Amino acid sequence: MKIAFVGKGGSGKTTVSSLFVRHLAARAVPVTAVDADINQHLGVALGLPEERAAALQPLGDRLGMIKDYLRGDNPRIPSAETMIKTTPPGTGSRLLRLDEDNPVFAQCADDVRLDGDASARLLVTGPFTEDDLGVACYHSKTGAVELLLNHLVDGRDEYVVVDMTAGSDSFASGMFTRFDMTFVVAEPTRKGVSVYRQYRDYARDFGVELRVVGNKVQGPDDIEFLRAEVGDDLLVTVGHSDWVRALERGAAKPFGALEETNARALRVLHAAADAAYTRRDWHRYTQQMVHFHLKNAASWGNERTGVDLAAQVDPGFVLGEAPSPQPV
Ligand SMILES: Nc1ncnc2c1ncn2[C@@H]1O[C@H](COP(=O)(O)OP(=O)(O)OP(=O)(O)O)[C@@H](O)[C@H]1O
Ligand SMILES: [Mg+2]
Repeated sequence: MKIAFVGKGGSGKTTVSSLFVRHLAARAVPVTAVDADINQHLGVALGLPEERAAALQPLGDRLGMIKDYLRGDNPRIPSAETMIKTTPPGTGSRLLRLDEDNPVFAQCADDVRLDGDASARLLVTGPFTEDDLGVACYHSKTGAVELLLNHLVDGRDEYVVVDMTAGSDSFASGMFTRFDMTFVVAEPTRKGVSVYRQYRDYARDFGVELRVVGNKVQGPDDIEFLRAEVGDDLLVTVGHSDWVRALERGAAKPFGALEETNARALRVLHAAADAAYTRRDWHRYTQQMVHFHLKNAASWGNERTGVDLAAQVDPGFVLGEAPSPQPV
């Protein structure tokens, strides 16, 4: 299951996504956490010491290796140079599975130990600045994540959780359509819900599943405000957490000591994410990646690479969990 956490700066994307990762890991659900946020804090929120978090190998620095691995011997993609972030897989491409060893995980992932036997795989895009948010093209820091998602064949009981910035980058590239479920983390303020509106307006035409997670909610007025602003898209709310604050003070408590109301909120997120599985549509998923690839090809990719990138589309290819049935 591919899950995104988006929201305004400071809304609590990293906090809530790290809690969700811990919730899954505590239930022994395999989980890969991806830090694609401007401020790279997910590793630390998962309890990694600062030095180890800073030493992670960013996906953005391994883009050449990632492209070479994913294109495999797909004849439509003869070189990494002509593979852009939206280049879709086709016959001959290597698809990714979350339960396998592959060079991308071997070179970039860290295994983060959580409470007890719980652990999560962590991938990071590398830090980026506000300037990167306007970059819809070749150098986008989240390009590697988009490529991974477009080559991933994930099942129901395994999760990729992406902590992500809702920038123009994700709208231009199609990144916002790559998830089974998008949780918009919003504080109960007018600014807090503005990112929700922007997302919803883009998402509407693409069947993106979107739910709002109210954060730092203090009482009935806050809930009423969120309900009035986002209606039925409000899934659940999270209050101020002393558990989170203790972690930030460097006095982390076991995950089992998280406040019951917040633990319940995480169960609601899990159930909503899981339920999205039944609405998965690999045909639509593949069509959308092709749509955004053609759009990016025409707007900058063809010019940038000097080739006709539309020719990378394999018309008969559909990404999916099960191998395509063989003709009889
Ligand atoms: N429910 C909560 N209870 C207590 N503290 C919280 C809660 N949610 C967020 N915080 C605190 O608020 C601050 C901002 O949260 P966080 O870093 O998760 O937001 P973000 O949206 O990821 O921000 P950025 O845009 O900077 O990446 C952090 O100090 C975090 O610990
Ligand atoms: Mg963050």
